[in-house]
Amino acid sequence: MEIIKAENLTKDYGHNRGIFDVSFLVEKGEVFGFLGPNGAGKSTTIRHMMGFSKPQSGNIYMFGKESFKNYSEIMNSVGYLPGEIALPNSDNGQDFINVMKKLRHLKDKKMLNYLIDKFKFNPMLETKKMSLGDKRKLAIIVAFMHDPDVLVLDEPTSGLDPIMQQVFIDFIKEEKKRGKTIFLSSHIFNEVEETCDRIAIIKDGKIVSTFKTTNLKHNQNKTFDIVFKKQDDFNNFVEQIKKEKKIIELKEHNENNLTVKVLVNDTNINKLIEIISKFNVVEFNEDKLTLQEYFMNFYKEDKDFGGVPDERDNKGRKSHKRLQK
Ligand SMILES: Nc1ncnc2c1ncn2[C@@H]1O[C@H](COP(=O)(O)OP(=O)(O)O)[C@@H](O)[C@H]1O
Ligand SMILES: [Mg+2]
Repeated sequence: MEIIKAENLTKDYGHNRGIFDVSFLVEKGEVFGFLGPNGAGKSTTIRHMMGFSKPQSGNIYMFGKESFKNYSEIMNSVGYLPGEIALPNSDNGQDFINVMKKLRHLKDKKMLNYLIDKFKFNPMLETKKMSLGDKRKLAIIVAFMHDPDVLVLDEPTSGLDPIMQQVFIDFIKEEKKRGKTIFLSSHIFNEVEETCDRIAIIKDGKIVSTFKTTNLKHNQNKTFDIVFKKQDDFNNFVEQIKKEKKIIELKEHNENNLTVKVLVNDTNINKLIEIISKFNVVEFNEDKLTLQEYFMNFYKEDKDFGGVPDERDNKGRKSHKRLQK
């Protein structure tokens, strides 16, 4: 079942700022990561998702309903954690929790108590004396105390210390196990890699890649580190690899320690092995691509190497949207 669906969502703020043709689908029970640096368009997308902003063109739906027209219904059923937290003037955390309890007509306090306990929040703390981390904890508590089925989290761990970041990641994993649907925006690679089933990378307002997290781990394009015993072998290998540049990319070679880094697609691995077998090799290891390295590919020039296969579009074609610099 489709829970969140964006179709060519566009909001142009001018000067290439905003979001452009953003499309994705989040199914029930999925944890979907929305990864991008500051200014990429994460919060803008989320504001449209929650129905706060009207798209210029394209559409965004929650539970099959257009977000902007169904704003109050969405606010009632979704747990939304905003990126920037502005607390109203209240004396302490408990006052704010009470206001939100009333607004939400909350009767069951099980989740509320669970969250206060899990995040070690002191509700009696004066709002004025709260650190950024305390404010974030309070925002987390009021966003999820009604135990919503869908969580929309805009950079949830910013402002939390590393221990609380891990507590939050555990919370996301627990909620996933309970069948919740989660949309998580972040610029932190490991929290996305650790929690998400699928990831979309957004850059300059455009989605540049959408893929399953497991595909990253079983990447078809592999990087290998090779160490040679003799200078001659190193030189000859480098020379031969340069001749195969259409299928094997020489990423690095260092004469001082006789190491080479190459990138090759699974389908061409035999060729690499054929060349390597002619030489005396001390080490031959796969250098597994991390999400961070994959992400960084979008900051380099467009090339045929270095990517995870993107998901197919709805016509069964492989979409290989790459950003040209
Ligand atoms: N209301 C607005 N008016 C004009 N520009 C905006 C507005 N909101 C966001 N932007 C611009 O749109 C881009 C995306 O912003 P945002 O969605 O907040 O990025 P992110 O959440 O990924 O850091 C940025 O360049 C930002 O300056
Ligand atoms: Mg933001």
